Amino acid sequence: MAAIPALPAISAERLPGLLRRMPKAELHIHIEGSLEPELIFAMAQRNGVAIPYASVEQLRRAYAFSNLQSFLDIYYAGASVLITEQDFFDMAWAYLERAKADHVVHAEIFFDPQTHTARGVAMETVINGLHRACEQARTQLGVSASLILCFLRHLSEDEAFQTLEQALPLRDKFIGVGLDSSEVGHPPEKFARVFARCGELGLHRVAHAGEEGPPEYIWSALDVLKVERIDHGVQSAKDPQLMRRLAQERVPLTVCPLSNLKLCVFPRLADHNIRQLLDAGLAVTVNSDDPAYFGGYLNDNFLQTFEATGLTAQHAWQLANNSFEASFVGAERKRRWRDQLDEVFAG
Ligand code: ADE
Ligand code: ZN
Repeated sequence: MAAIPALPAISAERLPGLLRRMPKAELHIHIEGSLEPELIFAMAQRNGVAIPYASVEQLRRAYAFSNLQSFLDIYYAGASVLITEQDFFDMAWAYLERAKADHVVHAEIFFDPQTHTARGVAMETVINGLHRACEQARTQLGVSASLILCFLRHLSEDEAFQTLEQALPLRDKFIGVGLDSSEVGHPPEKFARVFARCGELGLHRVAHAGEEGPPEYIWSALDVLKVERIDHGVQSAKDPQLMRRLAQERVPLTVCPLSNLKLCVFPRLADHNIRQLLDAGLAVTVNSDDPAYFGGYLNDNFLQTFEATGLTAQHAWQLANNSFEASFVGAERKRRWRDQLDEVFAG
């Protein structure tokens, strides 16, 4: 673990400003989950797609979820307005501008191609639109961004293989693969062969595990899928042996506090186990998951979680540095971001 520098005394009043201004990486953001209701309506209109809501306000009122599946049903319906390459660009660009405002210096962005190819949208349309936004963010915003292709775990492994085949001609436009959608009943083992193939192809591997599902899914994501990070992973607290392993191996967890609150994983933000995970030495990061649906982008996640759980400036530094350490970039860029982080804390 990176040694935490001796931080100057930081008063409680200064902490929110630091949380906002500190450089940070976002490693768990579904780009389709950044599609704001206003953009859904604009795209529905320009593409002639019918949506079963009369207004932006009515759609927003439907964002009251009881669990992961109740959210996914609305999330996939929202994504149905995305048709053209420009739509995918516009969605990603809106997120990247918002990320820049939150002092995000780097984002590793999930996308769900099967949600779109199943509706007849070509794989190139999806990837080229998203990739163009990532390139423009680098040159115009100074934010680096890369793409991670997620397989939908409620579909079959054969369908995941077909999706991989369709994406391989665009291999230079994404850095890795992930696993998302309905977790319980769809254990990581279901995707053992396709993840093995992705490993042979040199793709990074991550998977959602232990969001609602049991600690066993985290064990098998690590041992069967050979993932480098666990997305969510908050259920690991139920398994002391797993906690010890995650701490020892510094396996990053991309935790999403407002998502966990809105999907009723924890009854209140004050009940979130992020402090327990951090204090046990796990490589926790903070992320927004689906910010348009869960009421907050990355800084909202930091600010509300610190307010509710009493995390300290030491935790803030650790969380930001963990986000750099857990990212899929080289050591030199990680070192530069860490220097920038130290400057903000020293200032
Ligand atoms: N797809 C988008 N958000 C998700 C989440 N929180 N869990 C699983 N799949 C998702
Ligand atoms: Zn997620």
